[in-house]
Amino acid sequence: MIPQSFIQDLLARIDIVDVIERHLTLKKSGANYFARCPFHGEKSASFSVSPSKQFYHCFGCGVHGNAIGFLMEYSGLSFIEAVRELAQQAGLKLPESQPGSDTAPRITSASEGLHEVMAAAAHHYREQLKNTPEAIAYLKRRGLSGEIAARFGIGYAPDDWQGLRKIFPSYEDKQLVDAGLVIVAEDSGRRYDRFRKRIMFPIQDRRGRIIAFGGRVLDSGEPKYLNSPETPLFEKGRELYGITQAQKAIRDEGHALVVEGYMDVVTLAQFGVCNAVATLGTATTQHHLQTLMRFTDRIVFSFDGDAAGRKAARRALEASLETLRDDVTLAFLFLPAEHDPDSFVRAHGAQALREAATHATPLTRFLLDTLSDECDLGTAEGRARLVHEARPLVTRVAAPLLRLQLVKAVAEAGMLNQGEVEQAYGLKPSQPPRQSSTSHGGRFGTPRIPRATTGPRTRPGSAVSLLLRLVLQHPIHATRLPVDLIPADDTDGTALIAIIDAISIGDLDPGCNLATLVEHFRETPHASTLSKAAAELVGAGFEDEVIEDLFDDTLRKLQADAIEREISSLTRQARERGLSSAERYRLADLLIRKRQPPSLGKH
Ligand code: UTP
Ligand code: MN
Repeated sequence: MIPQSFIQDLLARIDIVDVIERHLTLKKSGANYFARCPFHGEKSASFSVSPSKQFYHCFGCGVHGNAIGFLMEYSGLSFIEAVRELAQQAGLKLPESQPGSDTAPRITSASEGLHEVMAAAAHHYREQLKNTPEAIAYLKRRGLSGEIAARFGIGYAPDDWQGLRKIFPSYEDKQLVDAGLVIVAEDSGRRYDRFRKRIMFPIQDRRGRIIAFGGRVLDSGEPKYLNSPETPLFEKGRELYGITQAQKAIRDEGHALVVEGYMDVVTLAQFGVCNAVATLGTATTQHHLQTLMRFTDRIVFSFDGDAAGRKAARRALEASLETLRDDVTLAFLFLPAEHDPDSFVRAHGAQALREAATHATPLTRFLLDTLSDECDLGTAEGRARLVHEARPLVTRVAAPLLRLQLVKAVAEAGMLNQGEVEQAYGLKPSQPPRQSSTSHGGRFGTPRIPRATTGPRTRPGSAVSLLLRLVLQHPIHATRLPVDLIPADDTDGTALIAIIDAISIGDLDPGCNLATLVEHFRETPHASTLSKAAAELVGAGFEDEVIEDLFDDTLRKLQADAIEREISSLTRQARERGLSSAERYRLADLLIRKRQPPSLGKH
């Protein structure tokens, strides 16, 4: 456990520009530094680093955070590791751990233990592979070199009911069961290894930690692949096999190739196609897409050319609609019916596969083709049906420009015009995209509106949301905010109240910078609200000259709102049950104050 005070001290000493410059080439422009974003593929530099706020933000993909967050995301470090690395750079010594002394980095030691267990098991399986000629022969037969096997950490689980007993101090340890490596028989209570006599494919998370295994039978046994169950480390629908190995190639090649099988990923790598990842026997999910969109703006799904492949493609399409962004292209690659990527690359070579990926069917065309197959476009009825069937798909697309394209395409296929389709779908006629202001601060700095989050959102531009942003930029303002004026009915309001509280009880220094403030609320319910608001401010903050006025105006607005609320509550009570004389007096007072807003007394 690291005390908050240490983290605050650390963030005050280091400079995020130095930290990021170790990894990226930054160019100064105005007050900020810019680079090409390392978290999504791009040609322009939308990744900005603000020295004054000690915060980074990408205007392209929305990633943001402070120096600790950068190291966690970029280098795949844990919170503790990132703090340790920064402390080292700053010449600070990490304080001795004081159990229970603080709330900050509650890195669950349970999952750390499970990670160790998985790493030890993977090591064991790799060693066993070396000693099992039969398993090596199998991999050779499938054309894999020792180098590729090592790169993917491929191992072998021997034909032994309790093979893992050899390497763990206690085979009875609950962690072995929790990690999904050992099974307890329901009737006898006897324990045994889940994976036996199988080629072992370790599944890693984005940080390269082993979180699960897939085990393939050597011969034709059933099931062909046995996978780890869902565990605290492993949620199938979130993970992509091969993502650790593929990350760099995805960035370099400018697209990611999503395939179905472990062997597809490994064989493609063997042939030099290193940007492939596999879903783990599940349909493609939004999580998969979100992960990949961090690395690239083009994602190609490969499917078998048969009916099952088309069905899987349709499912992937549906899972993607809501998550898609206007700057991301999805395409569908259909291989000849007899092939999967593994056999295709063997038969035709890497170049043929790359070319096929380049010419993969874009999402819009795939969607229209699929629907056109189902409807007879030569008849009015068929065209009506197409427009009808497309509706649930098109209306789920959140990306405005992509949706506009789809509407137009559907309109054309259905022989209608754009407005008619929009009306039929109950969509607002699409407006030309609003011009995004890139000027450094109009009066309100037009912060970028982040992508949708869950939870009750604050109306953008409301008084509370504005105050929160002002306080983030200059925390000192929090000391001038009467906490009872802030309505606690949305995320910005509760976050603002939490900041005022933290400052008033001395937990947070009102002179702190943005990065420290956001860090203070890591792992609290306010974390995402704050870091998103902070990200909007990077490169689009408020100009110093207007801050005072803006603050006073906004505070006045809040006061007026509070008066308004009390007036309507008293008026309602007057109607319902009458008012006491004190209440009548209060109402009269409020009505007068409403007409003459109080001055706030600037300093
Ligand atoms: P495939 O049967 O296409 O696997 O299943 P593959 O990778 O081409 O296997 P090889 O070439 O015969 O060795 C695709 C994926 O579906 C999941 C696995 O993730 C597999 O890679 N699967 C398949 C299972 O989880 N269990 C199974 O029994 C079969
Ligand atoms: Mn295969």
